[in-house]
Amino acid sequence: MLDHPARAKFRPPHVKPPTRPLSLWETARMSRQNALSTIPEIAYSSRILSGKTGFRWHIVCSPDANRQVLLDNVENYPKSRITQRILEPAIGRSIFTSHGEEWRWQRRAAAPIFTPRKMMSLTPMMTEAATRTSERLEGAIARGFEGRGVADIMEEMVAATYQIVCDALLSGAEGLDRREIGQAITRYLETIAKISVFDMLDLPHWIPRPAQVLNRGVTERSGQMIAELIAQRRKAPPRQDLLGFMLEAQDPESGQRMDDATLANNLFSFIVAGHETTALALAWSLYLLAHDENVQERAAAEARAAIGQGPARGDHLEALPYCRQVIEEAMRLFPPAAMISREAVARDTLLGREIEPGDMVIMPIYTLHRHSHFWEDPMHFDPEHFAPEKVKARDRYLYLPFGAGPRICIGMGFALWEAQIILATLLARFRFLPKGGTQPEPVMTITLRPKGGMPLKIERRG
Ligand code: HEM
Repeated sequence: MLDHPARAKFRPPHVKPPTRPLSLWETARMSRQNALSTIPEIAYSSRILSGKTGFRWHIVCSPDANRQVLLDNVENYPKSRITQRILEPAIGRSIFTSHGEEWRWQRRAAAPIFTPRKMMSLTPMMTEAATRTSERLEGAIARGFEGRGVADIMEEMVAATYQIVCDALLSGAEGLDRREIGQAITRYLETIAKISVFDMLDLPHWIPRPAQVLNRGVTERSGQMIAELIAQRRKAPPRQDLLGFMLEAQDPESGQRMDDATLANNLFSFIVAGHETTALALAWSLYLLAHDENVQERAAAEARAAIGQGPARGDHLEALPYCRQVIEEAMRLFPPAAMISREAVARDTLLGREIEPGDMVIMPIYTLHRHSHFWEDPMHFDPEHFAPEKVKARDRYLYLPFGAGPRICIGMGFALWEAQIILATLLARFRFLPKGGTQPEPVMTITLRPKGGMPLKIERRG
């Protein structure tokens, strides 16, 4: 049963899927421009599609297959060669990129850092970033006309989440150039992190990809800066932030601690994996709210009741369930990590299909979240998809913005809390409205970004 049957729900932009099979060259070209535009239309209503483009691949869109790959037979499906090729130049061997025992001990060591109690101690940094963002939006309104301003919400959200991750990870590093690290990450995401035609042809890992050669050194300087920071912090008194917790981290089984190189890789991976993804969840949330006045008013009323004029703090989180539903629905329609892939080690059968060693299993999360068999009204924005009773009735493996199984995102709690704190703070103070003109096109290279940014109108609430 729908909540407001008479109300027209907002249908946001959707990637245009190809309606005919693509050649290898078309796939390679389109993967670099927008990887989602290679997923055929039929995938939005099928459970498995198989083919060969250099390597054998299977596109799976089914909770049973997702559970088998990510949980039940997880040892048979490590992260794919393409993922490794893309991520290793920037984040080296880290929790994100390792396998087997190398992954297990690092994950065990880092797990206690992301417990709710430790995360709660970091929420003041989130509140601080939310306040600064409000101030910048006030500035945009002051520069605007008749109480209304315009801001690129994508840029604003990146600035907010980058501030949080830097405060949490890099605090006390006075000499450290945050901007330089931010720029290096952006350049990396725009160059090395793109799939190359060499990857599609399955050329060996050791053949350097052109973008890799041209952009060698992009992340080197940031790596050096982070290494210097770790050296400084090892000598300084302990601090209560993410880096402080990481310096103390120890595998409870073996007692092993991270050496400086592993620490640096993990810190860098938290920055890369953590800030743009959360910024995207927030930017798409605000975009969707701007196009649905009723939902925005309901979320704003909840925020005002919980925090007044704000800003939101960690102890407000429980009073903001609808704001969380909005964020979850935004990540259904626009999952920041829109595709996950794995590579089979041994033979297996997936939904009745033979899987050979070396086959690539692609889980297009974006497609899964808009699948016509599994979701009621999948193309429309409706936070009621995340009403508690609906979540309870749904298969866990149908909604995977953070992945699932043992390799589920380690920063999920951190990301959801910062998103809730920022969203509630902004909704209590401002109203967001569409800017008009063209709609932002969802484009996936490594994350799912709005092409052309996300300009929205903003006005202060009474
Ligand atoms: C909305 C924000 C975020 C989204 C959508 C997101 C999404 C994901 C997804 C889908 C995975 C699994 C990838 C796979 O299975 O191939 C993942 C893993 C990971 N994420 Fe996140 N992430 C977010 C925020 C964060 C934050 C804030 C951090 C760190 C502070 C973080 C650190 C990691 C790490 C280290 C892994 C690897 C875990 C492992 O393999 O054991 N992420 N993330």
